Amino acid sequence: MTTLSQNIVTRHAERTVTADGAVPAAEPVLALRDVRISDRVTDREIVHGVSFELAPGNAVGIVGESGSGKTLTCRAALGILPPHFDVSGGSIEIAGTDIATLTPSQWTGLRGSTIGAVFQDPASYLNPSIRVGAQIAEVLRAKLGLKRREARHRAVELLRAVRLRDPELVYGQYTYELSGGMLQRVLIAAAIAVEPRTLIADEATTALDVTVQAEILDLLAELRERTGLALVVVSHDLAVVAQLCDEVLVMRQGVVVERGPTRSVLHDPQHAYTRLLIDEHHQYGLEKFLAPKESS
Ligand SMILES: Nc1ncnc2c1ncn2[C@@H]1O[C@H](COP(=O)(O)OP(=O)(O)OP(=O)(O)O)[C@@H](O)[C@H]1O
Ligand SMILES: [Mg+2]
Repeated sequence: MTTLSQNIVTRHAERTVTADGAVPAAEPVLALRDVRISDRVTDREIVHGVSFELAPGNAVGIVGESGSGKTLTCRAALGILPPHFDVSGGSIEIAGTDIATLTPSQWTGLRGSTIGAVFQDPASYLNPSIRVGAQIAEVLRAKLGLKRREARHRAVELLRAVRLRDPELVYGQYTYELSGGMLQRVLIAAAIAVEPRTLIADEATTALDVTVQAEILDLLAELRERTGLALVVVSHDLAVVAQLCDEVLVMRQGVVVERGPTRSVLHDPQHAYTRLLIDEHHQYGLEKFLAPKESS
């Protein structure tokens, strides 16, 4: 079992903008340009050119069927592709730096200060035999060099910031004592501990029941508004993306088949596959997420 500080990719940065999307020409916090990902063993290209730019405080969604390459795309941006996969074309820039030019230790340093991630299975990123708060404190000590007492204090504040009701109590608990929703909040707390400018949420709410999912989505929206955190939201659920994202990419079989402002893609899809996804989701009440939003 690896530890949180190894798993959670985090960082330290000034906060600059709000989330209203009105900030002109800010340098992207993350830019993918025609990113291709291949399996070296089979010599097969799996992801055939994904491009997007993420401005501070903005949110981009990636939707599409299982196996379409959403997670591989995220893992490429985090520099944690599975062993025999690599980026075989295109480039990935984090805050203006092409990550392919970095040595492993430079990459570790940059990653620690720019980009964080949460995935579907929070329990597997936490050590079951260490109190969850201590694991966040460890991240703070390792990445920010905080002293034990400061790190503890800050960890409790983070648990409060992710709206855990009794952060002091949760600090001292073990994973088995927490629900899935609470564990995901703990992971989000750890991921934002050193203030990354980008958070990748890959199916982060998929395993949660509907009410808890809505609470976590609200939390992400709040963090975005309050801190200017930029989001990459991966979900098979269009309603999740509709709720959080300015822009959406629709992927199918490693190809981005459609992209654009969330509202226009969801209201006026151009690609048959997007229409299919939307039809599948109408029964879950996608409209209710679209209705209250201003045009984007
Ligand atoms: N660790 C791995 N080993 C082997 N093949 C993999 C691995 N991870 C992904 N793949 C393959 O790469 C392709 C894209 O996978 P990826 O996990 O990116 O899909 P996804 O869009 O995230 O799907 P899902 O919605 O199910 O999470 C799939 O065909 C998958 O089988
Ligand atoms: Mg996936």
